[in-house]
Amino acid sequence: MNGLDLHGIRQVYSKETLNEEDCHPDPLKQFELWLNAAIEAKVHEPTAMNVATVDEHGRPNARIVLLKEVSDGFVFFSNYHSRKGCALALHPFAALTFFWPELERQVRIEGKVSQLAAEQSDEYFYSRPYTSRIGAWASHQSEVIKSKQELLTRAALIGARHPVKVPRPPHWGGYIVRPDLLEFWQGRPSRLHDRIQYRLVDGSWIKERLSP
Ligand SMILES: Cc1cc2nc3c(=O)[nH]c(=O)nc-3n(C[C@H](O)[C@H](O)[C@H](O)COP(=O)(O)O)c2cc1C
Repeated sequence: MNGLDLHGIRQVYSKETLNEEDCHPDPLKQFELWLNAAIEAKVHEPTAMNVATVDEHGRPNARIVLLKEVSDGFVFFSNYHSRKGCALALHPFAALTFFWPELERQVRIEGKVSQLAAEQSDEYFYSRPYTSRIGAWASHQSEVIKSKQELLTRAALIGARHPVKVPRPPHWGGYIVRPDLLEFWQGRPSRLHDRIQYRLVDGSWIKERLSP
């Protein structure tokens, strides 16, 4: 064949099984159990998740961000003027995906997205290192820049203006994805994987098994 032949790259998944009765009735609690297992297993970047959004043309686009809190939803922080920020302003829905290869597990989440209250964004922003706070001002996230130097010069100017306390940029803050659909995937041999889905129906979670 022409190009890259990757047909031989495949894994056999066999570490664990996942049954409906083993899954917590509350999917957020089930997520916490799995995330804690990923942290304990020393998965690299266990909180890294893919966030997919839909832009003004109906085109999906996706990127990795870090999960920072789990409450009644999944919280991440970003620039409200970024590409994802513009997409979410128009279509406030997102799909999140976690993959923890060491545990042969995937979690998929879908839900409505809203911005966090300013005080909650402040709380996280002021817990970040000084240089990250400068970076939040210096980066006009997703915009084209002429050179790396332009970014470094902007960061230096902002550092000179705010040598100690860096205020939170109004365009930087948190998003919370409140889920109405979650799926827990456990890899199994022969591609007969275990998939347990939770759907929110009239305020209650329905748990069901999906075909792999
Ligand atoms: C491991 C990892 C963690 C990241 N964490 C964040 C994050 O928490 N927030 C963020 O805005 N971007 C984060 N990024 C950068 C995003 O993937 C992306 O480049 C950026 O948010 C711009 O995306 P956009 O142009 O689609 O808005 C991270 C990237 C990686 C690889």
